[in-house]
Amino acid sequence: MRMTVPTLSTWKVAEGTHKPLVMVTTYDYTFAKLAEAAGIDILLVGDSLGMVIQGQSSTLPVTLEEVIYHTRCVSRGASRALVVADMPFLSYQISETHAIEAAGRLIKEGGAAAVKLEGGESIAPTVRRLVNLDIPVMGHIGMTPQSIHRMGGYKVQGRASATGAGSADHIMRDAKALEDAGAFCVVIECVPQDLATAITKELSIPTIGIGAGTDCDGQVLVSYDLLGFQTSEHRPKFVKQFARLGQAVIDAFATYADEVRTKTFPSSAECYGDDGSTPALSRVDKKSISNG
Ligand code: KIV
Repeated sequence: MRMTVPTLSTWKVAEGTHKPLVMVTTYDYTFAKLAEAAGIDILLVGDSLGMVIQGQSSTLPVTLEEVIYHTRCVSRGASRALVVADMPFLSYQISETHAIEAAGRLIKEGGAAAVKLEGGESIAPTVRRLVNLDIPVMGHIGMTPQSIHRMGGYKVQGRASATGAGSADHIMRDAKALEDAGAFCVVIECVPQDLATAITKELSIPTIGIGAGTDCDGQVLVSYDLLGFQTSEHRPKFVKQFARLGQAVIDAFATYADEVRTKTFPSSAECYGDDGSTPALSRVDKKSISNG
């Protein structure tokens, strides 16, 4: 059965009728198919693509065109999961008209069923406007990567010592403002567990946590992180690697390179004969080829 916005908007785990929602980021057709085959509920085309696909140091340079392109690729691979597209930096902050045009393109050209915006009280009027136009909105509060310069880095928000926009009170107000504006779901990123638990209890829409403890209505991770594509030791505390695909890919590339250089690949099994048969083994005597 296809996951839809109405189904998702009432998904509250504490009421005992639902298991936690599972969301991962995907950026292309093949990964969308694989995530669906694994039963993932929501595919987020995150602006994290700026970092894991493009090699940028933040999400800020990502453009609307780029997110539309990746959303289109993911939508082609998704027949059951809900596809949500991230609205990149400055695609919704300049004016409500800008936001409507950008969100509309993500739905119309990208094939997304919903868009995600970072921020709370300050963007609530924009969220209301989009929702009134039947563009479903997922909110994103706490540590919001597009605000990296205000926050002074990727830092946990909502701690007891925090003031201003990063304080627990402010983040709770952000959550309520998004719900009031009609968001169907809210991502909470990198806040103390108690704050995420309190927000999850306060809201009637589901919360999806990333570095936000155990009590949210769902969890999200960047797929490249959870699959272990990063081979460096340094990673955020909230990331668990469920596989070590980075090393597996390096090993596969190295074996391929070795087989090409030693002329073990292609073997006769991978070659065509004139008549459709497998051709006889190579002209070159393999034993005579050295590794150098
Ligand atoms: O861009 C992204 O990948 C995200 C998730 C980390 C929630 O916003």
